[in-house]
Amino acid sequence: MTTEVQTSLAGKVALVTGAASGLGKEIAETYAKAGAAVGIADLNLEGANAVAEQINAAGGKAFGIAMDVTDEAQVNKGVDDLVAHFGSLDILVSNAGIQTIESIDKFEFAKWKKMLAIHLDGAFLTTKAALQHMYKAKKGVVIYMGSVHSHEASKLKAPYVTAKHGLLGLARVLAKEGASHNVRSHVICPGFVRTPIVEKQIPEQAKELGITEEEVVKNVMLAGTVDGEFTTPQDIAQTALFLAAFPNNALTGQSVVVSHGWFMQ
Ligand code: NAI
Repeated sequence: MTTEVQTSLAGKVALVTGAASGLGKEIAETYAKAGAAVGIADLNLEGANAVAEQINAAGGKAFGIAMDVTDEAQVNKGVDDLVAHFGSLDILVSNAGIQTIESIDKFEFAKWKKMLAIHLDGAFLTTKAALQHMYKAKKGVVIYMGSVHSHEASKLKAPYVTAKHGLLGLARVLAKEGASHNVRSHVICPGFVRTPIVEKQIPEQAKELGITEEEVVKNVMLAGTVDGEFTTPQDIAQTALFLAAFPNNALTGQSVVVSHGWFMQ
């Protein structure tokens, strides 16, 4: 099998969850520019439809899908609708996520369960639904949106860190089970990117830690980087393109940390 790295996704169909905003939106737009037809899945259907409209207006192929990734029926319907519309499913990017900041001793159990459900149940349900099509077609790539927090811990993020570590396990099992079906898995582990999930955290962390917002950015978010820089949505989308287009099993079951040097494996 070839090892020539491709940058084209022509003829491929991708599903990106949490694609109405932030990293998911950037990945969906990048995949569409690379020639893929893209399902824009999100809780926020209006936002998903707006992203799909922009892609279609630019000459790409996309449509919005109402999907709560924790709801098995909605996930299965969304995946089946996408396959009915575009004919296959080649790439899943399981990206939808939230963040809640609190110390373990005060964390509400309901909020803990919600975080694990979106990140872990969502990854499992979308993977299971996608594999029904990928295994039949004998090809596919599943990309999980992990985090530097798949490898490192930070204060106030117990369920997030737990869930992001868990995604490494799911990706590794899928790499082993998927190999004979020509299905690969990857985890992308971004450092901090200034999307809405992070903008919301800056004042919350400042309050919890009793420091200024500037100190949160400099001393908490970017302290471990080699250059004090934020990672960008484009950095993550280009990594997602490289992984989706990589042609063989040399890369499977691994995590790729994109973080300006924060956590080196
Ligand atoms: P964002 O807040 O901009 O986008 C998240 C999207 O997920 C939103 O459109 C939201 O509606 C959707 N969503 C939330 N719950 C959902 C559900 N139950 N079903 C379907 N969609 C749902 O956040 P961002 O930054 O783009 O985050 C995307 C992923 O990247 C998350 O998994 C996050 O943990 C991860 N990540 C983000 C980093 C950052 O610094 N922004 C760093 C490392 C990882």
